[in-house]
Amino acid sequence: MSHATISQSISIVHPISLSHGKNAEVWDTTGKRYIDFVGGIGVLNLGHCHPGVVEAIREQATKLTHYAFNAVPHAPYLQLMERLSAFIPVGYPVSGMLTNSGAEAAENALKIVRGATGRTVVIAFDGAFHGRTLATLNLNGKVAPYKQKVGVLPGPVYHLPYPSADNGVTCAEALKAMDRLFSVEIDVSDVACFIIEPVQGEGGFLALDIEFAQALRRFCDTNNILLIADEIQSGFGRTGQRFAFSRLGIEPDLILLGKSIAGGVPLGAVVGRKPLLDNLPKGGLGGTYSGNPIACAGALATLDAMTDAHLKTWGSQQEEAITRRYHAWRTQGVCAYLGRMTGVGAMRGIELVNADGTPASKQLTQLLELARDAGLLLMPSGKSRHIIRLLAPLTIEPAVLEEGLDILEACLRQLA
Ligand SMILES: Cc1ncc(COP(=O)(O)O)c(C=O)c1O
Repeated sequence: MSHATISQSISIVHPISLSHGKNAEVWDTTGKRYIDFVGGIGVLNLGHCHPGVVEAIREQATKLTHYAFNAVPHAPYLQLMERLSAFIPVGYPVSGMLTNSGAEAAENALKIVRGATGRTVVIAFDGAFHGRTLATLNLNGKVAPYKQKVGVLPGPVYHLPYPSADNGVTCAEALKAMDRLFSVEIDVSDVACFIIEPVQGEGGFLALDIEFAQALRRFCDTNNILLIADEIQSGFGRTGQRFAFSRLGIEPDLILLGKSIAGGVPLGAVVGRKPLLDNLPKGGLGGTYSGNPIACAGALATLDAMTDAHLKTWGSQQEEAITRRYHAWRTQGVCAYLGRMTGVGAMRGIELVNADGTPASKQLTQLLELARDAGLLLMPSGKSRHIIRLLAPLTIEPAVLEEGLDILEACLRQLA
């Protein structure tokens, strides 16, 4: 199909046209089948057309397709916020608001922290990704392509190195950079918040250093700074737990939700400590579509399916299969470019590197094409676009997962 009517500024990873999907499989308009290791970029942790989600959407569509919650509240929004506040694994009372997307959740979080602290400075991290709206662009720890040609971005925002065993940046290095920031660049008392992904998504599936996360929590408490965890990609079971911050042994003050929250229907949320959410004037938060009843129905069905037992089983099964195959590929030397495996749980990245350790970005592009031709959809990540991110539905059938990994192995063997 022609792309003539599509903005050429949208970058398309796979130039095919999808027709339909079922759990971890999709078919294009020519009838070709693909195993889906992209999951709509982390949106389909429950797979394509999960029966519970489809049924909930269908039923809701016969009752009430839309109402702007801030004009007249409706039951699906209220029910969802109650269920979500119980689903967020923190010890404090949770409240929040619904949005249409992840970026809109991040935008609203910036407003919420300004309202709560009276401060404006935000500290984000190298390699971070928080969205494509004007304010979230500045949070991203990567210039090209996001920050190019758009001029001055809303600030003030500063970036620190993101410490992770997956990128070799240590906790001590990140803390040293933090010391420098507050002695050279800005006064700590001007800082409203830190925003951090417990596992970086776009950045290459890098798992945050636990010691740093705990030091950051203590630093925020000492200096009355808020800590925002962006769980838009790492949340909703991706790492085998409800949210990836649980692995860090900390409680964020605000949590950003999106992607897999509603089984494929657009929805996001900002949730967190109740008193923080109430500081902007009435009407300061909201939106026409945010918390649309059909999206809320999708999210309620998602929460029904995401029991802790299911998440643990799905996460560990997928993690076991990926890590077993990866280690076999290393042992057998199937590919000269095979680098580190990054991430945690079922949120795994596989790095491609040259013999001198530099990113093998060209080979990753080749791999995407080889895999697509062979019936497997993959997605790149990392600053140099050299890390494959594996985001297969958590519900993928074990045989389909192995079939996808077989295709990946065959394609790795062909890399030149
Ligand atoms: C961690 C993270 N935050 C925010 C976003 C932005 O979400 P959306 O594309 O729904 O605006 C993304 C999207 O990839 C993400 O991965």
